[in-house]
Amino acid sequence: MGVWGREHSAMDELIKKAAADLAAARKVVALTGAGISIESGIPPFRGKGGLWERFDPMEVAHIDALMRDPVRVWNILVKEMKEIVDTARPNDGHKGLAKLEQMGKLKTIITQNIDGLHQAAGNTDVIEFHGSFARQRCMDCHKKYETLNVDLSEIPPRCGCGGILRPDAVFFGEMIPPEAMWRSRQAVSECDLMLVVGTSAVVQPAALMPVFAKETGARVVEINPERTPLTGEISDYLIRGKAGEVMNRILTEMDFVGE
Ligand code: APR
Repeated sequence: MGVWGREHSAMDELIKKAAADLAAARKVVALTGAGISIESGIPPFRGKGGLWERFDPMEVAHIDALMRDPVRVWNILVKEMKEIVDTARPNDGHKGLAKLEQMGKLKTIITQNIDGLHQAAGNTDVIEFHGSFARQRCMDCHKKYETLNVDLSEIPPRCGCGGILRPDAVFFGEMIPPEAMWRSRQAVSECDLMLVVGTSAVVQPAALMPVFAKETGARVVEINPERTPLTGEISDYLIRGKAGEVMNRILTEMDFVGE
């Protein structure tokens, strides 16, 4: 059997293992990152073709940069992201997690993504750990608006109070919304299996969630074409592949195991 054959069978084994682990699991929680939305046309932040290859995150995604020059941040970040996020649709990675919820396996998704694609795929318990782009918030009175209802012909857009609107997302230098933090800790403390899909696991405190899951005795399974700092340290195994393809194969295998 050649190298290809061996890699293929190793992948087959991991798919079978993940299907069996999911079939046996009582409460599954997923942690997701930008990688799961790549197959929907949204670029990642890091690595080849990542947003941070083109822009310095401290210059366009840090709260100090937003306070210093909201027009510049709006023109770069928002314009770059908005058009892409508006046209993006859930892919098989998102749909696979939605199917796991329908099967009664997946309880909660903790996502670092601000694109709303998990909800669009049908998941009902999604913790937006880094906020969302679907809402804007006034920097003065904190009133929130649906992005769809915000007139973006004027940059930066303004609140009725005259304040500047900003995405209701977490910028570098800002805290994770407290409710998102404790709800995530709660969900992680109750899970017996965590799927970690499409995150480089370098941004804290999101990257701590698999560590907390491991501490509570949960099995941690990574899905990512690349290794991460969790691989071989915290995760029980890594399935090296694209989220959409891997989720399709796992669900097909689960059908076989009669789930
Ligand atoms: N399927 C699954 N994973 C993929 C795919 C794919 N098709 N393609 C790439 N990946 C993996 C990459 O190997 C990488 O590990 O997705 C990961 C994307 O990593 P990042 O771009 O760093 O995204 P993320 O981990 O979500 O970043 C965390 O950093 O910039 C901030 O606030 C931003 O929420 C973001 C946070």
